[in-house]
Amino acid sequence: MKVRKAVIVAAGWGTRFLPLTKSQPKEMLPLLNKPLLQYSVEEAIACGVELVVIVSAKGKRSIEDYFDRHFELERMLEHSGQTRLLKEVLLPCDMADICYVRQKEQLGLGHAVLAAKRVIGDEPFILFLPDDLFQQKEKVLQNMITISEQYRGSVLAVQAVSEAEVSRYGIIAPEYVAERVHRIVGLTEKPGAGESPSNLAIMGRYVLSAEVFDALENTPPGRNGEIQLTDALQSLLLHHPVYAYEFAGDRYDTGSLPGWIETMVTFAINDPRIGPGLRERITAILSSSSGMKYPLVDGEQDGNVVMMTERR
Ligand code: UTP
Repeated sequence: MKVRKAVIVAAGWGTRFLPLTKSQPKEMLPLLNKPLLQYSVEEAIACGVELVVIVSAKGKRSIEDYFDRHFELERMLEHSGQTRLLKEVLLPCDMADICYVRQKEQLGLGHAVLAAKRVIGDEPFILFLPDDLFQQKEKVLQNMITISEQYRGSVLAVQAVSEAEVSRYGIIAPEYVAERVHRIVGLTEKPGAGESPSNLAIMGRYVLSAEVFDALENTPPGRNGEIQLTDALQSLLLHHPVYAYEFAGDRYDTGSLPGWIETMVTFAINDPRIGPGLRERITAILSSSSGMKYPLVDGEQDGNVVMMTERR
């Protein structure tokens, strides 16, 4: 069955960005002049998706506003002759059919996926974790869809990680099928040292059969009292083939402050409009000894990240 729908989960708390994410969804953080979420929507459209389902939550109205029309702004840009900007402002409104479902309580990634069940129905779908961006050295999702059709199963994107990193990811137990394609025979979420079945970690793109919804409905809360997608996939693979695709190219994790900053810098220095000037500025900053000091109010330093202390 053709893959026509995509689910983008965007309902999480984003605690690693607090206090910023108290009023600003993590998924709307900028990467250059576009919000993170737009990259996933563009990726979905590029592989033929017709309907994008965004799983949202309380306090995330700015997501809907961003993909909607803004007539006053458009009129202002039109009247002032800023046609290039007008085009950019209109782009997110016209790029896809988008619908929203609410995850009413943040009970984990698996629970967020389940919120899309009615809109997805009985069809296979793509699941995006919008924190993860892929370099697109190749058409990752297109290849995953092809594998899903060829082997008639679900497909997860995986990438080899170092031994020190396996404890941060869901790790697969693989059985070789073809070059960069494995049948998944087991899954372990964040394995401890020496417990990992491989070094292949699940990254934020999935082509899933609708059977995953039954598995999710029968998955009890796991780690942190959350309904874990990995637990549901573990039970899914007992009666439905699940494959892994080792994609080529870099992957950017924007889900933490250091990861987001690193991604922003990478994108910026490779952008032809601002890259060359920025490289010069960074070189100058690195060679300057003045070192601007933050915070301006009491706080403590944790590595390079400023952590505010509690004030009573
Ligand atoms: P994360 O594991 O990064 O969690 O979720 P988070 O809440 O966004 O961020 P931290 O860990 O508190 O800093 C991965 C993706 O799953 C979504 C998030 O919005 C993110 O896109 N998610 C997570 C939900 O939609 N609902 C949830 O209950 C949990």
